[in-house]
Amino acid sequence: QIQILRTLAEVRSWRRDQLIKGQTVGFVPTMGALHAGHLRLVQSSMRMNDATIVSIFVNPSQFAPTEDLASYPRDFDADVEQLAAQVDDDRQVDVVFAPSVEEIYPNGIPLDVAEQKGAFVTVHGLSEQLEGRIRPQFFRGVATVVSKLLNIVSPDRVYFGQKDIQQTVVVKRLVQDLCYGSVVHVVPTARDDNGLALSSRNAYLTDQTRQDAAVIYKALQNALMVYRQNTSAEKIIGAVVSSIAEKFDKDDIEYVCVNDKDTLEELEVVQPLKGAIVSVAVRVPNKFGSKTRLIDNILL
Ligand code: PAJ
Repeated sequence: QIQILRTLAEVRSWRRDQLIKGQTVGFVPTMGALHAGHLRLVQSSMRMNDATIVSIFVNPSQFAPTEDLASYPRDFDADVEQLAAQVDDDRQVDVVFAPSVEEIYPNGIPLDVAEQKGAFVTVHGLSEQLEGRIRPQFFRGVATVVSKLLNIVSPDRVYFGQKDIQQTVVVKRLVQDLCYGSVVHVVPTARDDNGLALSSRNAYLTDQTRQDAAVIYKALQNALMVYRQNTSAEKIIGAVVSSIAEKFDKDDIEYVCVNDKDTLEELEVVQPLKGAIVSVAVRVPNKFGSKTRLIDNILL
């Protein structure tokens, strides 16, 4: 039986009980609209910890005013049902933490940096490039809510998906720099049969664009092939762009980048021993007649 907890006090009390019982706790932060990608994180947590807690909280501070906060897919009952179906030997998901916005932001939400009051968290140097260039407030929102959640839950281990690779780099640095006691685990990207990375926002796509979007992962696979012959970032990027342009407008490719996997420094040449991230963001037509941003990446 999953316990649904709504307040900080309830979670802290549950956490204290686990500590007294000597049970390790794994934590999976999510914004709900759960799919097989989220469930993979949950399964990792269940395997590695005595108890697992999943948060479902659509964090307003990581959405820009122009973004889809109001329409972000929400289906709490279906989420809980999916989590309840996760059973591994005698392990299960123990707690769903689903707080209100007021519970997490008791003094309101710091939206405008210029008008900033109160405490928030920025991981400088890793938040400005790639996704951060297009979504300037995004990682401040993510780092702030992840700090809050880690302070509430104090898990032994916390799980993030490689799908959002810059988020994993930002969070790892946050955990080091602010001395959180949790170990960060990164879980590989779960994909549709056609290779499309699973995402809650895939629900916005038409059947056609969902099929066409398979080209994104194919393009990344191409990057890997090119890299085996040639370590120049320009060559790798060129191959990715031309593959994606087979299905989508070139102007809708927001970026294709090759970066160091720890510093996110942009690379001109990939050093085989150090490796690199190849990441892309593409705007693809959706069922509302506008465009949905899809992101994906692979490690070289
Ligand atoms: P959300 O987009 O719901 O994702 C929750 C977690 O699931 C993230 O760590 C994300 O990387 C992972 N995930 C999503 N799709 C995945 C896939 N196809 N394969 C593997 N993992 C996948 O990311 C967030 O929420 C928020 O920014 C959050 C960390 C909860 C802070 O608000």
